[in-house]
Amino acid sequence: MKFPIEKFQELRTPFYYYDTTLLDETLKAVKDNMQPNWHMHYAVKANTNPKILSHIVAAGFGADCVSGGEIQACLDAGFPAEKIVFAGVGKSDWEIELALLTNIFCFNVESIPELEVINELAQKHGKVARIAFRINPNVGAHTHENITTGRAENKFGIAWEDALDVIQRSQQMGHVECVGLHFHIGSQITEMDDFATLALRINELQEILDTYGIRLPNVNVGGGLGIDYETPDQNPVPNFKAYFDTFRRYLQLHKGQQLHFELGRSLVAQCGSLIGKVLYVKKGSLRTFAILDAGMTELIRPALYNAHHAVENITPHDGESVYDVVGPICESSDVFAKGVKLATTIRGDLMAIRSAGAYGEIMASQYNSRKLPEGYTSEELCCQQ
Ligand code: LLP
Repeated sequence: MKFPIEKFQELRTPFYYYDTTLLDETLKAVKDNMQPNWHMHYAVKANTNPKILSHIVAAGFGADCVSGGEIQACLDAGFPAEKIVFAGVGKSDWEIELALLTNIFCFNVESIPELEVINELAQKHGKVARIAFRINPNVGAHTHENITTGRAENKFGIAWEDALDVIQRSQQMGHVECVGLHFHIGSQITEMDDFATLALRINELQEILDTYGIRLPNVNVGGGLGIDYETPDQNPVPNFKAYFDTFRRYLQLHKGQQLHFELGRSLVAQCGSLIGKVLYVKKGSLRTFAILDAGMTELIRPALYNAHHAVENITPHDGESVYDVVGPICESSDVFAKGVKLATTIRGDLMAIRSAGAYGEIMASQYNSRKLPEGYTSEELCCQQ
């Protein structure tokens, strides 16, 4: 990726930089691989920067929200309410009411107590809430333990063996209408076999439901497609074809059934970088540290999940050296990379922490009383690459 370094010199660091040309290319690749009865609901939790949301609205996608705040951000950004789905194990009453009153497409319901509350609140407002049950398919995904969600021991979803019962129960209720099944097995999944296994489990469930005469109009397979954090410039656009082909090949939909997806990371991760400035280069007894003004407060993924992000010194220099790239926060886990070979680094250089467009800016905190980072796009810096 090329960075407009001269423009960057005018900005206060650290900040997020989004290449909207790459974002649009990514969104187009998604659209090019989809079918007419397929619907994409961008998992907004990955990034709610309004500048990013505006591109996703323009692409015609819907949104997958997990809070009232996200629903509001999506409505403000121009997502049509009828393309919004609302998931989450702990929906508050005000969040359910906001979703009911704005007529979102569907609640992804994760428990019987939640179902009862939605039914009650819908009755209070004279509404019928469209719901889909999030079923836990008990499928393991080959990903970080903290971001796998579809195994029986995870808190998410309704137990596989209870699926039939909850659907039948909802059919007795006056203010909910069950319109679909929902699944999500985890995040940063790069093995398509995991999605194939999910598809086969869904077929199994649909067959069981069929024997009871239950055919629901929608199936939502969640999100989870991973990206290349190691070599982002080699794979700036994720392999959407392989992902969608897996469902085309293994998932059996009933006639007329609509298929929904909730991709987050794969849509926005590669277009974003965290840009920080080198404050000091410090030689320790064992290692040389490049100390940035960006840290775990702006990008927590390395500290939280031991996640790898490629780091680049984007200020042109001759020569190379090995550094530990660290942030300024008073925590030993505030480290972006250990023992990486970078262009010889001096105070004032700009560094890019790559693949940070998803779960970066949105997970920033004010720990150490720091300011939240700004996000700038390539188009607003007038430098389409
Ligand atoms: N649908 C549901 C129900 C989800 O829970 C998630 C993500 C998604 C869709 C979107 O998944 P994606 O396509 O982005 O993988 N903070 C972590 C990731 C947490 C993901 C939580 N759920 C990280 O930085 O890796």
